[in-house]
Amino acid sequence: MGGLQAQSHGNGGNAEARKLKNPVEATAQSLAAGRELFTKNCRSCHGADGKGEGPMKPKDSHPSNLTDADWQRGGSDGEIYAVLRDGAGPEFIMRGYKSRMTDKDLWHLVNYVKSLGSKSGH
Ligand code: HEC
Repeated sequence: MGGLQAQSHGNGGNAEARKLKNPVEATAQSLAAGRELFTKNCRSCHGADGKGEGPMKPKDSHPSNLTDADWQRGGSDGEIYAVLRDGAGPEFIMRGYKSRMTDKDLWHLVNYVKSLGSKSGH
């Protein structure tokens, strides 16, 4: 651990968030809850399939492809959770959901988002 660790929310992940434990098991029930939340809150930007081509994504924005193995902000459960909670800075085209969702819902979404990736063969 050097002194020049990437700060949270930048490229290269979020060392603090990586330590968080996902308290919600990725059961079929959790995935179903996550899917519903995704359809309601995330599809507009990330697309129904999670590939980042949502019908309402803001002009000139590039919502991440959530189905590939590339996690610009870190691919651990805790790091994905931190993006959902706090939003994707520094521009925050994607705003955080912490005031709009329960913690449990955020973890359901983490489970769902991760399941998208495994379906594409990675
Ligand atoms: C207003 C459009 C918008 C909405 C709504 C939105 N996002 Fe995003 N999201 C983005 C953009 C843009 C980025 C890419 C930011 C960057 O890194 O440049 C992003 C990044 C992410 C990342 C980081 C991916 C990585 O590679 O590390 C995750 C995970 C994510 N979004 C999940 C979600 C989930 C789950 C929801 C619903 C709760 C959601 N997003 C809603 C626009 C949106």
